[in-house]
Amino acid sequence: MSTKIDQDRVLIFDTTLRDGEQSPGATMTHAEKLEIAGMLDEMGVDIIEAGFPIASEGDFEAVRDIARQTKNATICGLARANFKDIDRCWEAVRHAKSPRIHTFIGTSPLHRAIPNLDMDQMAERIHETVTHARNLCDNVQWSPMDATRTEHDYLCRVVEIAIKAGATTINIPDTVGYTYPFESANLIRMLKERVPGADTVIFATHCHNDLGMATANALAAVEAGARQIECTINGLGERAGNTALEEVVMALKVRNDILPYRTGVDTTKIMNISRRVATVSGFPVQYNKAIVGKNAFAHESGIHQDGMLKNAETFEIMRPADIGLKETNLVMGKHSGRAALRAKLKELGFDLADNQLNDVFVRFKALADRKKEVFEDDLVALMRDQVSGEAHDRIQVKFLRVICGTEAPQSADLVLSVDGVDHRVTAQGDGPVDATFNAVKAVFPHTANLQLYQVHAVTEGTDAQATVSVRMEEEGRIVTGQAADTDTVVASAKAYVNALNRLLVRRQKSDPDADVKSVSYRDAGE
Ligand code: KIV
Ligand code: ZN
Repeated sequence: MSTKIDQDRVLIFDTTLRDGEQSPGATMTHAEKLEIAGMLDEMGVDIIEAGFPIASEGDFEAVRDIARQTKNATICGLARANFKDIDRCWEAVRHAKSPRIHTFIGTSPLHRAIPNLDMDQMAERIHETVTHARNLCDNVQWSPMDATRTEHDYLCRVVEIAIKAGATTINIPDTVGYTYPFESANLIRMLKERVPGADTVIFATHCHNDLGMATANALAAVEAGARQIECTINGLGERAGNTALEEVVMALKVRNDILPYRTGVDTTKIMNISRRVATVSGFPVQYNKAIVGKNAFAHESGIHQDGMLKNAETFEIMRPADIGLKETNLVMGKHSGRAALRAKLKELGFDLADNQLNDVFVRFKALADRKKEVFEDDLVALMRDQVSGEAHDRIQVKFLRVICGTEAPQSADLVLSVDGVDHRVTAQGDGPVDATFNAVKAVFPHTANLQLYQVHAVTEGTDAQATVSVRMEEEGRIVTGQAADTDTVVASAKAYVNALNRLLVRRQKSDPDADVKSVSYRDAGE
């Protein structure tokens, strides 16, 4: 079968739920994955890579349930080059209206050495596994992992084998983010010229951002004939991340004069999904991130502000509304009611059930009492806090009072509930945050070490909420935690406890299969 290719269209393949979730600490719950998949489908993404079904029971169930719920997008699962992975992947994706199996193997010399296959043995493995996948599903994507460091002759040979075995999409990954844009373009051009049957498949590009060139490399590949871009929301992904969906989609929209290709993405949904992914993954978006960063549309210098007032195009190449940002961020105060809150949250991408709305409303009122003006960003922080402080969390902060100031020692008086039992403790430390964390450790001893502690003000003013992010590591497991509060020390305590709760879930889930995810690249040829 040859694939019908619309030459004016670039397909958007989102891998937030697979490659994005592989970022250390970015693990999402089942419900969160289903929610993000729903948002991706609604915004018009063509293909959703929903997970790696063999990696764990949880991954399998998420892919299967996303396949069942999705209305429009093709649902794809990842599988290594062996029958067991491929069968498991098919079991999960076959429920979709449009299923796809994505199978891969590392083809560069470094990656060939790991399963200890020579070139001929690997070629045979590719033939067998793609044929097997194609016998199950008529939509098969094949990736030569580390393609950009694979010898060109060998790359042409294996791509030809995969096409002959029935692959309908050939993805060319820059797995280690090593490529320059002109090389990325040349590679696609070379494959399209040299490989028999290349005109019958779609070429895809999958770029990592180790040198900060992922988006440029993806667009260069499109210029050379690739018609599928693999990307993630906020550029989430292994190490420095992937091509960011919002960047490629907006680049194609804003510079349509350079690359005259359409995508099916409704760009006005970008801001909401970006916020939601930041919340559920625990990876905040950097302030100066292209398109979705807090400062992407902020103008501070006098010259810029003057220019903006006269003509916004002076300093903006797109309008905030293009990505779903409102002109004004000021939304509500303490007199705002439940209906207004529900409507505003819906606009921000949070569709709440009645009982959830009740909880958030109480918290919103408490915030509005402490803070004169409640901005959209405050509501997003409140929602993030809602997610991180779920009622079923084993550990919860019940009370905190700190003594701090110029005279040491600083101390924290803390009540922590663990499995429903309250424990009170007073601890000292080097500053209020250190004292608070010591108090948590006194109640709930653990060996996890704190790798990162970050505080951001959500909005301006001394009454602003603080968002605190922490990252912890325990025996190779990395988790993140977040919380917001007008009191920075309270936010710190809640963020720390949020990370501990996630760690407990991870500990519980630690079964032999769960490790497949972390060794997936090493064992790719197995
Ligand atoms: O970066 C990579 O090579 C991948 C493959 C599994 C496509 O994520
Ligand atoms: Zn990748």
